[in-house]
Amino acid sequence: MTTTQFANSLADAQRLVTGYANKVLAGDDRLLEAMRYAIVGGKMLRGFLVLASARLHDVDQGVALRAALAIECIHAYSLVHDDLPCMDDDDLRRGQPTVHRKFGEDLAVLAGDALQTLAFELLSDPTLGPNALSLIRGLAQDAGKDGMVSGQMLDMAAETASEPLTLDQITKLQNRKTGCLISWSATAGAVMSGADSTALRQYADALGLAFQIADDILDVEGDEAKVGKRVQKDADAGKATFVSLLGLETAKSRAAELADQACDALAIYGDRAETLKEAARFVIARDS
Ligand code: IPE
Ligand code: IPE
Ligand code: MG
Ligand code: MG
Ligand code: MG
Repeated sequence: MTTTQFANSLADAQRLVTGYANKVLAGDDRLLEAMRYAIVGGKMLRGFLVLASARLHDVDQGVALRAALAIECIHAYSLVHDDLPCMDDDDLRRGQPTVHRKFGEDLAVLAGDALQTLAFELLSDPTLGPNALSLIRGLAQDAGKDGMVSGQMLDMAAETASEPLTLDQITKLQNRKTGCLISWSATAGAVMSGADSTALRQYADALGLAFQIADDILDVEGDEAKVGKRVQKDADAGKATFVSLLGLETAKSRAAELADQACDALAIYGDRAETLKEAARFVIARDS
């Protein structure tokens, strides 16, 4: 698999998830408009991971698309709330005004809420079959008080902590705020087919951490026009990141090691996992 083939796979996932999102959220209601705006325009890496892991486990792609949209709904909600003035206070996302800047804070909170519940509505569709409950339970855990929301809580608390966080504390924060949703996505195919998800979980644990380190590096050296969000904000905000603790160069080599670890974890799948391996290389080389 070449990088161009991977880019095509990611673009396919984007097209499928965007088309499905526009269908599910069709209408000229302002809430629906805000929800569509929140979802469309991202890389859709998490949706891609769901579709790729589903393919690896021979899950029907139509069924997998529901799960792909579900995780993009949760991801979009997390970003809408992350950008609010009471959180990271950002005005730019994916090169556009953030949802609260465009629609107002009240609608941004509500669009985030509705995106979250829509994810669970999508996953509870009967077509998901007997393993839907594991998928739903896993998402509730990975998105909630032991997952993404907990990570966001640790991220906010670190801004005003009296001591810098340790490496273990930053790893826990990043695993939760970013790793958990990535882990749910990459294991979804195995879970939907009732297969063992150990290898995919190991892959995703390394990938999630590499992904967030890359995000933190982009905040320092990224080009705002390419990244599509404000850069050089984390240090001033007092964010605890691998870059703040280890410096840029060590953070970069850690991200590269993690991408290698992610690829190694997929050995049992042989050549069939090439797309997922390419995703790991993409995550640390991306410029947006
Ligand atoms: C940004 O995620 C938030 C993090 C967890 C670092 P992405 O970089 O996947 O955002 P989009 O969806 O592609 O805009
Ligand atoms: C956000 O992390 C992670 C979640 C929304 C869960 P960041 O705050 O670093 O993400 P960006 O940089 O705003 O995309
Ligand atoms: Mg944040
Ligand atoms: Mg942010
Ligand atoms: Mg960031």
